[in-house]
Parts: sequence; C-alpha cells; structure tokens
Amino acid sequence: MFKIGNVILKNNIVLAPLAGYTNSAFRKIIKEMGIGLIYTEMISDKGLIYENKKTDELLYVTDFERPISCQLFGSDKESFVKAAKIVIEKMHPDIIDINMGCPVPKVALRSQAGSALLKDVNKIKEIVKAVVDTVEIPVTVKIRSGWDDKNINAKEVAIACEESGASAICIHGRTRSQGYSGKVNLDIIKEVKESVNIPVIGNGDIKTLDDAKKMFDYTKCDAIMIGRMALENPFFIKELVSYFENGIILNKSTYKDKIELALKHFNYLLEIKNEKQAVLEMRSIASFYIKGLPSSIKIKNELFKIKDKENLINLLNNYLKELENSIE
Ligand SMILES: Cc1cc2nc3c(=O)[nH]c(=O)nc-3n(C[C@H](O)[C@H](O)[C@H](O)COP(=O)(O)O)c2cc1C
Repeated sequence: MFKIGNVILKNNIVLAPLAGYTNSAFRKIIKEMGIGLIYTEMISDKGLIYENKKTDELLYVTDFERPISCQLFGSDKESFVKAAKIVIEKMHPDIIDINMGCPVPKVALRSQAGSALLKDVNKIKEIVKAVVDTVEIPVTVKIRSGWDDKNINAKEVAIACEESGASAICIHGRTRSQGYSGKVNLDIIKEVKESVNIPVIGNGDIKTLDDAKKMFDYTKCDAIMIGRMALENPFFIKELVSYFENGIILNKSTYKDKIELALKHFNYLLEIKNEKQAVLEMRSIASFYIKGLPSSIKIKNELFKIKDKENLINLLNNYLKELENSIE
C-alpha cells in the first residue's frame, strides 16, 4: 500500500503520462495489469479554459481506472488555477499533477511551460501554492533533473514544491536538454529523495525487473513510474506488481498473450473513438505490442496500410495463426 496525501493506492507502481497514448482505453489495459496509480496525458490549461473540444475529450475517465491523476501543463498561475477548477468539476480526478518536465519545443520553448518552469523557482512556488490552495485533492509535481547539465536543480525544485504544499514529487532523472538521450541519472533521484519528506516517484529507463529493483534500492524512492515499457509490453506492469506485491516472478508473456491483448485494446479503443481514429491509433499500438516477434516488421508494414476495423482484426488474427503454425 502507498499513499499520496489522503489517496490510498494499492501499490507503488505508477503508469507515466504519455501524450497521445494514455487515454481511457490504454489506461484500462494497464489497470487490468494491477497498477497502483494512473496518470492522464498532459492537458493544456488554456485548452481547458477555452473549451477546446479535443482538450475536453482528454477528460474522459471511467471509474475502473481510478485512482487517477490528472496532469496539467501551462505557464502561469492564474491559468493553472482556472484549469484546476475545471478538471475538478468535469473529471473529479483523485490527484492533480503539474507538468514541469515536458521538453518538447512547442511546450517548453514556445509556451514556456513544462520543463521551462524549472528555470524559475519562485514561479514554481507560486503555481504550486495557488493550485494547492484551490483544490481539496492532493497536488503533485512531475519534474526533470533540471533544464540542462549546467542547471541541475531538482533538489531545490523539489524542496520548493514540498514547501508550497505538494503531496509528492515525480522525477525523471534527465535534463530537459537531454530529451530521451543518455542514461537516467539515479543520483539526482536519490538526492531528491534525501531532501524531502513527501513521497518521491522515481522515473526513467525502467525496462526490466532489475531496473525496477535498482531504482528502488539505489534511490530509496517510494514508488516507481513506468512509461515507454508499459506501451511496449503492458504485461511488464503485471510482472512488476506480482514481484513487488507478492515476491513472485511471473513467466514472460507469449506472442499469443500479446496479440490477444492488442485485439482487446482495439475493442476498448472502438468504445471511445470512431473507427477511423481507433484504427489509426491501433496501428501504432499494435506495432509496439508485436515488436520483437517473428516477422513483425512485415506485419508492421501491413498494419500501416490498413484503414478499417475488419482488416485490422483479420491481420492480427491471421498473424496469430501464422505464429501458431510456425511454432507447432
Ligand atoms: C510518447 C511520450 C509521451 C509523453 N507524454 C508525457 C506527458 O504527457 N506528460 C509528462 O509528464 N511526461 C510525458 N512523457 C514522459 C514520460 O512520462 C516519462 O517521464 C519518460 O518517458 C521516462 O520514463 P520511461 O523511461 O519509463 O519511458 C512522455 C514520453 C513519451 C515517450
């Protein structure tokens, strides 16, 4: 069991926010794997304030996915406060998270949001305090280690967030300028953990059970967050939950498990999106699921030509039969 503020989580394994992917369908798949906490993808404060239709769609959540943290991104205190009130009213999240880590130029440079906030600790204090004072649910902050290697200030940022009332800090151990290159810096996560009393969620490059153990053992973080590996292999979440909840190492998922899960994921997508959108999204999701399986490159190429539901389902079912025949 793990707690953020007054929110009780069944374990300390967390699904990362992944823009374009962590919608209700994917979150349901991951929830079924036993995860403790799920995030929405980052949601624009301005998009909420101006009632942008696409932004509003990001607020869709089912009770099954709860507890859920709604992540907001923006650059000024006033808009964060307005956006927080809107999500409380429309989505009733269990936690609000503030994005201070996004490195993409559209967010960090053009809008001075995401990781750009790391450059101004006073502004961080103002924003966190204002949101904490506005809502009754816990507010958390997701940060990177700093803007660049000359400005690694995660410790100072984490202390500022704690002093301003944040209930947890999630840290991805890379700077903004690193993007996703290089290795995650576990030392900075450790330093953040040693500097604050609120829970610290360690994030970055957890791809195996050993990576997860190392993140816990070396940094002493309270929880771990998984991003890209959950997308590539949702069963990885089940493996982590089984190991950290019960000490049991599960067998690796098979090609059959993966393809059947892809079909289930597609059905969940069809429940929330029109056929065209669901097919488009499933083309990239299915490519993640089949990565590394025999002749997956050929199937991936075929997948990207598919435009309708029936052909997508047939392709995956035929691929499954092909694999069954070739393996038996
Ligand atoms: C496709 C993609 C979308 C992402 N979207 C978000 C986002 O909306 N908000 C956020 O805080 N981080 C976002 N991230 C960063 C992840 O949450 C996470 O911090 C990062 O991928 C490192 O974790 P990992 O090594 O387990 O993937 C995104 C990453 C990827 C690859």
